[in-house]
Amino acid sequence: MAFRLPNWVTQLTTAPSLPALPSVDSVIAEVDKALKTLAATPVAQRDNPGHAASPSQLDDAEKAKVVGLMRVNHVGEVCAQALYQAQALASRDPAKKALFLEAAREETDHLAWTQERLQELGARPSLLNPLWYSGAFALGFVAGQLGDGVSLGFMAETEHQVEKHLNDHLGRLPAGDSTSRAILQQMKDDEIAHGQTAVAEGGQPLPLPVKLAMTAMSKVMTTLAQKI
Ligand SMILES: [Fe+2]
Ligand SMILES: [Fe+2]
Repeated sequence: MAFRLPNWVTQLTTAPSLPALPSVDSVIAEVDKALKTLAATPVAQRDNPGHAASPSQLDDAEKAKVVGLMRVNHVGEVCAQALYQAQALASRDPAKKALFLEAAREETDHLAWTQERLQELGARPSLLNPLWYSGAFALGFVAGQLGDGVSLGFMAETEHQVEKHLNDHLGRLPAGDSTSRAILQQMKDDEIAHGQTAVAEGGQPLPLPVKLAMTAMSKVMTTLAQKI
């Protein structure tokens, strides 16, 4: 019986010709976006859902726990910016480029809300954010090189894993933290919609080893980000 390589291996080894190197202008634009994500205060287009929630009542131990969780969520949103910017840069289809850029714009709300929540708690974001951004950008660019179907499949799987992670955090938040709960609930609703969009736009299911590798990487990231 003839041995057949899985489709995803074939795609890796027969990936379309290497991309043209990005122009100097696009490199400068990407550096500018990275600096804005890492150093500027993001501006949300929607109201922060936490503002409509009843005031949180947290003791010191609960506050420390929430800081760890929200720092992880902020890191996730830093990565979302990097992923979608890179996937937009790598895509050759203007409509798909626009879709990834629109996803990045929507994720900016999450970035702003989680950053604001950290500030309210008197806490700082992860010191490793430049590292997370660089790693996520590289991953997004590689996914983009495998074609829009794989890239959208990667987006769908990412959003699915974030949804599971947010469910976990919603279960771990202290009962008295209505503010963080309102933010994470809205983020979860948005991530579900992003995942559905990625599938509807042609996202291909990813092979199990890739999904497991993504889960393992996010475990490393979340463990480190709670502390550093
Ligand atoms: Fe998000
Ligand atoms: Fe999302």
